[in-house]
Amino acid sequence: MFKRLTARVYKIKNSYATVSRVKGVNVYGEKIFKKGSKELRVWNPKKSKIAAAMMKGMPLKYIDLLERYDAMLYLGIANGTTASHFSDIAKEDALIYGVELSPRSIIDLSILIEQGRRNIVPILANASYWEHYAPYVEQADILYVDIAQPNQTDIALLNADIFLKDQGYLYLAIKTRSISITKKPIEVIKDEISKIKQHGYNIEFWTRLDPFEKDHGFVIARKQ
Ligand SMILES: C[S@@+](CC[C@H](N)C(=O)[O-])C[C@H]1O[C@@H](n2cnc3c(N)ncnc32)[C@H](O)[C@@H]1O
Repeated sequence: MFKRLTARVYKIKNSYATVSRVKGVNVYGEKIFKKGSKELRVWNPKKSKIAAAMMKGMPLKYIDLLERYDAMLYLGIANGTTASHFSDIAKEDALIYGVELSPRSIIDLSILIEQGRRNIVPILANASYWEHYAPYVEQADILYVDIAQPNQTDIALLNADIFLKDQGYLYLAIKTRSISITKKPIEVIKDEISKIKQHGYNIEFWTRLDPFEKDHGFVIARKQ
């Protein structure tokens, strides 16, 4: 029933799950399984876009990378649903710098941190104004962006230019309906991919997230 995929990610039947960093704590209503002394938290693809990307065939290499980095910058960390899984699988001294516009979400996120997810650094800021949080973050190996804004790709690329190390990875969730309600989602995704390529980044993987997240795309690109 349990299949180990990477150091801290398992497959349980048809679901992915992470080895919990904080035992006995349920973050967003996810199912928890016990395996020996470990607790495995199911990574819900309807609540976390990267889990949806995994269900759509994202290669394991990109999960492996999430277990190896020193620093991640996360734009649109919200109340930490996806970040709780990143926190579970990050290596011991890694840090996740989480930028979020909503004060309410930052309060929820702070509760997660107090419960033991000490590898998350909450930052109340607008990701369009990188200079506001530049003093508090370090150069990142991974930039994860999920902000549902009309200019989400521009904001991602601006932050990638400034904060992402050379050869670092951009993971971008694209909410097509925030960009255009008239164009077909697939056209919007392809346009955003072209923009990222023209900016000099290599596209390594992309997928639509339907049926888990309607009208969304997910792209992984590498900075040269
Ligand atoms: C779809 S939710 C993110 C969900 C989260 N990534 C997860 O998987 O758990 C989008 C979040 O982006 C935040 N956001 C939108 N625009 C932003 C901006 N310019 N700067 C920072 N956060 C922003 C919103 O407040 C919201 O919490």
